Amino acid sequence: MFPWLATGHLIPFLQLSKLLAEKGHKIYFVSTPRNLNRLPEIPKQLSSKIVLVSFPLPHVPNLPSFAESSTDVPYTKQQLLKKAFDLLEPPLTTFLESSKPDWIFYDYASHWLPSVAGRLGISCSFFSLFTAASLSYIGPPSVLMSFGDPRSKAEDFTVVPKWIPFESDLVFRLHEVTKYVEKTEEDESGPSDSIRFGFAAGESDVVIIRSSPEFEPEWFNLLRDQLYRKPIIPVGFLPPTIERKDEFEDDINGHSWGSIKEWLDKQKTNSVVYVALGTEASLSAEELKELALGLENSTLPFFWVLNKIPGSTKNALDMLPDGFQERVKNRGIVHGGWAPQVKILSHDSVGGFMTHCGWNSIIEGLSFGRVLILLPVLNEQGLNSRLLHGKKLGLEIPREEEDGSFTWSSVAEIIRTAMVDDSGESLRNRAREIRSMFGDVDRNNCYVARLVNYLMENKKARVL
Ligand SMILES: *[C@@H]1O[C@H](CO)[C@@H](O)[C@H](O)[C@H]1NC(C)=O
Repeated sequence: MFPWLATGHLIPFLQLSKLLAEKGHKIYFVSTPRNLNRLPEIPKQLSSKIVLVSFPLPHVPNLPSFAESSTDVPYTKQQLLKKAFDLLEPPLTTFLESSKPDWIFYDYASHWLPSVAGRLGISCSFFSLFTAASLSYIGPPSVLMSFGDPRSKAEDFTVVPKWIPFESDLVFRLHEVTKYVEKTEEDESGPSDSIRFGFAAGESDVVIIRSSPEFEPEWFNLLRDQLYRKPIIPVGFLPPTIERKDEFEDDINGHSWGSIKEWLDKQKTNSVVYVALGTEASLSAEELKELALGLENSTLPFFWVLNKIPGSTKNALDMLPDGFQERVKNRGIVHGGWAPQVKILSHDSVGGFMTHCGWNSIIEGLSFGRVLILLPVLNEQGLNSRLLHGKKLGLEIPREEEDGSFTWSSVAEIIRTAMVDDSGESLRNRAREIRSMFGDVDRNNCYVARLVNYLMENKKARVL
């Protein structure tokens, strides 16, 4: 297992590792020291099956020496982190030569790994933490591998690409693209993400996707039959599980679940909006203010996780409108720093989830049947938002096309529609109904079982 250096990638790779280890397979989980240290503890009965393999992250100029994960660096320095990541090729190759695994599971960022695996006669699978819809939008490997992304102008990303043969609204908004382009210019050397995706998918033996064809059949079919033309295997959603011992665990990172639970216990069933916009991206001061005023005007109870701004010393709490916390103190909590998201989402008082539309978060929200209020910030989040809005499992907060601004009144209106108004009833029902598809562990484990069969039947016969 060789995930990209981001918590949101390490965790699902580890989840899949545990499921494979439970079936008796041995896993080498390869990453850098700080990333491995931050992983949740591996259950005792699996600890002999999952071997953590640690390589120091090679140094590249201008990347802070402590930085090993996407949350350690501002958005503008992600490219540098990828450069350092690419330098792991030699130690990883040496390791693969000696450990000789049957299969390699790698992420989109290590576009160089399939050719290493090919030389060594090891089967390899691109494990995609992106939906089949996002992969389709990104494009066919044949195109990406030879030319990179054929789109260059920001406007090109706001129309349905020509390789999508059916009607679709899965496109970026102009502000999502310009924000992205402006912010990556600073360090634009090295392979683009399009090249990385192209080789990761194009040169793999099989593509494994953390999703299911029950959820997005049209996109799975398109990938398999037209864009990728290779085996595409869904692994299900890898839903979050709450370990029994977690129930009693207290004071993780200084925040006690006990006091959060106590507050949630006092709220009515399905009444609370849980707001968490991810750890990598942050809102501008203006956006933060509109969001706060929108929550205030909605009059609904909320629990808002407000992270520190990545790579900045500014405190997001100081950017809230004057007197906000005082005015909402009887019904809203603003929680600084890390919060036990899965436990919060699992609480009966939570009815809706305002999310930045990272795929992990969407899966966590729908695993508990929470209606989604969609506020994408970065990367493929805009595509996820369109997908979920299109499938009527959430409502997107409308933003100005060019600058992405939004108003408190539309925030309040969308929250009320999603949470309480009659017009949101079918949305709430759909979110509740889809819960078993996303969250039922047995149902999802069927996909894992099928994957394991496939892997055992299709590994390359190695020359010993
Ligand atoms: C919310 O905004 C509307 C429109 O300005 C206003 O009429 C209403 O009183 C506000 N509600 C609260 C609780 O602030």
